[in-house]
Amino acid sequence: MAKAGSVSVEEELIKANKLHLEAKSVMAGVLNDVKFGKPLETEAFDDLADGMIDSVIRNHNALACIGRIRKKDNYLMEHSINLSVLMGIFAKAMKIDRDTMHQAMVGALLHDIGKIMIPDNILHKPGKLDDNEFARMKQHVVFSRELLKKTPGIHPLTVDVAAQHHERIDGSGYPEGLTGCQICQEGKMVAITDVYDAITADRCYHKGLQPTVALKKLLEWSGTHLEEKLVHTFIRSMGIYPVGSLVMMESGRLAVVIEASEKDQTRPIVKAMYHSRLNQYISAETIDLSKAASQDAIKSSVDPDKWKIKVSDFLH
Ligand SMILES: [Fe+2]
Repeated sequence: MAKAGSVSVEEELIKANKLHLEAKSVMAGVLNDVKFGKPLETEAFDDLADGMIDSVIRNHNALACIGRIRKKDNYLMEHSINLSVLMGIFAKAMKIDRDTMHQAMVGALLHDIGKIMIPDNILHKPGKLDDNEFARMKQHVVFSRELLKKTPGIHPLTVDVAAQHHERIDGSGYPEGLTGCQICQEGKMVAITDVYDAITADRCYHKGLQPTVALKKLLEWSGTHLEEKLVHTFIRSMGIYPVGSLVMMESGRLAVVIEASEKDQTRPIVKAMYHSRLNQYISAETIDLSKAASQDAIKSSVDPDKWKIKVSDFLH
């Protein structure tokens, strides 16, 4: 089977699942400490970031798979962990050195901790926020920045990543309205990953976009809100058919993408599990489309809702 790193996705999933559980417990601790005004302990999330970097380097598809399995009730925690994973994958594609990758991933992990200080009725409001509410919501970035700044042992880049995740290159972002070169590279990267993760997540008030649709949206916003060159690199790192996409095969089978192929983005490793002509589930088969013997190919990406398929059930 083709490998994106030094180990197969199946092998890495065992470690990545453990790591994800650990990430949830570390984040629960962090969010609790912030809630009760306790100082942040850097050691726990430094160790966590190290573990995630190792996993991303070995095979980033495993943590990416787990990131697609989302529950609607714990958005802040899951989004923070997922953003850190996405930053790791992005940084790997950018060939960023390990220390910088670490600082950026910790920044992604903690970027939204200031939300703890935003009242629940604003944070969880199902509808659109009015001007006053939006002004208060925007303060979460300042709260995150100030909290990290006073935490001993936090690298300045970690603070910048958290502080700049809502800045946009055309100056339309917040809280400072920074433009182009005023935003650091990792700040521009976290803006891209934050948007991508937010629009692909199911929330109580909107359905998440399919990964392929979300990547197209990023292209629409590139050049104005997001830096074009970086968006292109991010898309390359995710693949044309990102992990978790549902695809229609030439054979009529429906399959879930479980591992992107670095050699040929149109031929990832997929798990076929439904037949569109028979209208029924079939026994799941993992197929490496980059192998000539697979004798099947992707026709298009499809909406899982149309087929009433819960993609996350097939990502384990
Ligand atoms: Fe945010």
